[in-house]
Amino acid sequence: MTDSTPILHQRYGDRSFSANFPWNDCLTSLLSHRSIRAYQDRALPKGTLEVMIAAAQSAATSSNLQTWSVVAIEQAERKQRLSELAGNQAHIRQCPLFLVWLADLARLGHIAEQRQLPHAGLDYLEMFVMAIIDAALAAQNAVVAAESLGLGTVYIGAMRNQPEEVAAVLNLPPHLFAVFGLCVGYADPVQPASIKPRLPQAAILHRETYCLESQTESIDRYNQVMQDFYQAQQMNVSGDWTEHSVKRVASGAALTGRDRLKVALQNLGFQLQ
Ligand SMILES: Cc1cc2nc3c(=O)[nH]c(=O)nc-3n(C[C@H](O)[C@H](O)[C@H](O)COP(=O)(O)O)c2cc1C
Repeated sequence: MTDSTPILHQRYGDRSFSANFPWNDCLTSLLSHRSIRAYQDRALPKGTLEVMIAAAQSAATSSNLQTWSVVAIEQAERKQRLSELAGNQAHIRQCPLFLVWLADLARLGHIAEQRQLPHAGLDYLEMFVMAIIDAALAAQNAVVAAESLGLGTVYIGAMRNQPEEVAAVLNLPPHLFAVFGLCVGYADPVQPASIKPRLPQAAILHRETYCLESQTESIDRYNQVMQDFYQAQQMNVSGDWTEHSVKRVASGAALTGRDRLKVALQNLGFQLQ
């Protein structure tokens, strides 16, 4: 059995954390996650995409409605265009496989219309949220599958910077929305990525009721852990995690185009009642 101690220390950047629990390979794979932003020029083994999608489809899905779809992109020109729409992120062009995960309310609307049945419920915010949750759960299962196969991934939330343009590149009909992208490929060993520490459990895990005030000490500790991490990784991050994170939500303009998401969704046919 794998010793869980080193991996838990990396996950929390805290040598005092330990799990007094029987460990297994699935847990090791989950806790070893790191986003990969540099890929080898190496094709994926045949069948990789289909196995990842089978894993994605094995995730739970609200009422078994399966309100998600995914577009697999391997053509260089299309990756180039999507990279441009996502702030020119180079890893989108570099990875052999780029997946765009979709909230899909078009399919349900289509089958309802085929049988001339009403589908006004699709116009509510609830159904949109459901589709986003379904897409996210599916994608994360695909990530776990890919990582178990020795592949690296990174999510691309920047797919939401210009949603209408992304929809045009993917030929999406109304009621489909690209929630995020996902780069998939073999990590470049020359630019290895480290496990990024997370907040102490005391900030995240609440028992019986939630408490905000009691998190201060954990967050202070995490700021120190992350400053050490940024330094060790030679990452050019100004300030600590608190400063860096709060900057990200300082204004609508800080959302890199996503401040107009509501309008974009309406343009894509989502009424969000
Ligand atoms: C929904 C989502 C969107 C993300 N978007 C991007 C992105 O556009 N570009 C990028 O380089 N990383 C992106 N990431 C990766 C995060 O920055 C990363 O998960 C986080 O810094 C934690 O690092 P780790 O995944 O290596 O543990 C995204 C992650 C998620 C979950």
